[in-house]
Amino acid sequence: MTTRITILGSTGSIGRSTLDVVQHYPGRFDVVALAAHSNVDLLAQQIRAFHPAYVAVADEQAAARLKAMKLGVEVLAGIESLNEAAAIPVDITLCAIVGAAGLRPVVSAIDAGNRIAVANKEPLVMAGRLIMERARRRGVEVLPVDSEHNAIFQCLHGHNVSDVFRVHLTASGGPFYGTPRESLRDVPPEQAVKHPTWNMGAKISVDSATLMNKGLEVLEAMWLFDLPLEKIDVVIHPQSIVHSLVEFMDGSILAHLGVTDMKFPILFALTWPERVESAMGRLDLTRMRELTFAAPDFSEFPCLALALHAARLGGTAPAILNAANETAVAAFCAKRIGFLQISEVVEEALMNCDAGQDVDLDTVFAADAHARRKASETMIALGV
Ligand SMILES: NC(=O)c1ccc[n+]([C@@H]2O[C@H](COP(=O)([O-])OP(=O)(O)OC[C@H]3O[C@@H](n4cnc5c(N)ncnc54)[C@H](OP(=O)(O)O)[C@@H]3O)[C@@H](O)[C@H]2O)c1
Repeated sequence: MTTRITILGSTGSIGRSTLDVVQHYPGRFDVVALAAHSNVDLLAQQIRAFHPAYVAVADEQAAARLKAMKLGVEVLAGIESLNEAAAIPVDITLCAIVGAAGLRPVVSAIDAGNRIAVANKEPLVMAGRLIMERARRRGVEVLPVDSEHNAIFQCLHGHNVSDVFRVHLTASGGPFYGTPRESLRDVPPEQAVKHPTWNMGAKISVDSATLMNKGLEVLEAMWLFDLPLEKIDVVIHPQSIVHSLVEFMDGSILAHLGVTDMKFPILFALTWPERVESAMGRLDLTRMRELTFAAPDFSEFPCLALALHAARLGGTAPAILNAANETAVAAFCAKRIGFLQISEVVEEALMNCDAGQDVDLDTVFAADAHARRKASETMIALGV
């Protein structure tokens, strides 16, 4: 049986890994649509290799360049085109756009009744309650691609969430784990994106260095698995072999172990509930020297503490946190602020924006826009 798929964010790290998975299983998948922001050169290569019927390009000028190449594909142009691509009827829409830009396409895929595989965590952080309610109403399955959530999904299978004592989200600690915070004042983005165990896009790599990524993942887990904050624990596991653990009421802990490669959770999500033979290698247990676990130090990683604070505040606070973080990380990557200023910008936005109720998507987008303005003001006040 062929699985018809759409890949939103096909030119990114997750998008490229997804196409690698597709290539490993000839005849198993049919790529119906691809979508990206503006990387037309890579899109053109992907079109030649995978022959999708549709390609959506958010940037209008980039879309015009792609059209001019006459590659025999229907090119959809502009921001709205991502929603159109997401709504094309397929067996599964894989959401791998980075950041808040993925929220409307995720909703669009759900409204169209497409099963979704979600790598793009920011929409769940911003509007997790609204997304999951909408998916339930529409009867749409939401499958986690993020390795930790994919691991928890697998450990929970066949169990009642009410029997969960807590889940343990593992974190590598990022490239600066164990480095005194003060010495990170002048680290350049090039150093922050060098993740010790995962090969990822720039934004998530910086989030991993600040541990904001783990905070976003706590929020993601709350919504995906309907768990209260108190039942989600973060544990530092530098080897990134145990992708997460579920501890049950009776004291049993189920752990998920696997190769440190996103192709595995992607394959799981694309083929679920079937399990297919791995064509991408296996974990060799005998090559593992040690698996260590430690509690995070919140004073070293204030972004993690801020994310947990946003989770406790609820309503639109996570959207505010996310928007301020996206703004600050973009400024850090552009060398406009320093690494330690990321948490300062986020804290300022979170403490000074009113977190109202997340009544609907409009309130979430309003909170997002307000937080981005506040973050920009803070950066101006910091002299950048
Ligand atoms: N990378 C990982 O290993 C990993 C693991 C778990 C979860 N995730 C999550 O998966 C998502 C993607 O991460 P990534 O590392 O793959 O990111 P990435 O390498 O930066 O790729 C981002 C993708 O999104 C597209 N994009 C960016 N802005 C857009 C916009 N405004 N409109 C439409 N498309 C846009 C990019 O298109 P262009 O190339 O044209 O700019 C690209 O295809 C993130 O939410 C991340 O947290 C990633």
